[in-house]
Amino acid sequence: MKIFIDSANLEEIEESLKRGFPAGITTNPSILAKEKKCDFKEHIRKIIDLLQKYSYDIPLSVEVFSNDPKEMIKQGEEFVKQFGDYANLNVKVPIGWDEMMVIHELKQRGIKINCTCCMSFNQAIMAARAGADFVSLFYGRIKDMGYDAYPVVKKTHDVLKEWNYPSEIIVGSIRHIGDINEAIHAGADIITVPYKFFKPMVAHPKTDEAVNQFLTDFSAWLK
Ligand code: E4P
Repeated sequence: MKIFIDSANLEEIEESLKRGFPAGITTNPSILAKEKKCDFKEHIRKIIDLLQKYSYDIPLSVEVFSNDPKEMIKQGEEFVKQFGDYANLNVKVPIGWDEMMVIHELKQRGIKINCTCCMSFNQAIMAARAGADFVSLFYGRIKDMGYDAYPVVKKTHDVLKEWNYPSEIIVGSIRHIGDINEAIHAGADIITVPYKFFKPMVAHPKTDEAVNQFLTDFSAWLK
């Protein structure tokens, strides 16, 4: 199981990279739109600079921002041309009928694909069949519809393993720490997590209590 950062914020990314745990970064157009208005490609370049500064060679997903298949292919190729010096760049393409053509086409050109916005088992399996290296299931958004996201991840995991598919499952759209724990148990290969959850994930009141007690006892003994 690997943890990715679901963010395009440079400070969040740097603080995470300094702590050694990230195994990848996912961005999307909405995540990028949260940042101060800038040249999109320059911003991605800054993320790559950070990855190189801290000697990481981990997947970085950048999403196409069009509905038109031809334009999606063009954008995917442009990303690779622009950021080709970072070999672990993945082009994110949403699942869909025409989009499967985009995935197939880009894969044939040797481009790594993260097929995103999957909300169902069928979509995930079709994404894997089209050749996606990563299949992204949106846990929180599945739950928004009133469905249980756990069996969707579990079934996808079981079938991909049974059929020996190389695609890795990324679970995104995390809304609670509980989603992370559930997705891990359901068989996600990767969970992509918003930065705000990382500090709570390592915090525990009993840890604070223990550490404070050790410090108090020892400083009393030193006197
Ligand atoms: C995954 O790669 C996506 O960026 C992501 O987790 C989107 O989730 P949300 O838009 O439901 O928050």
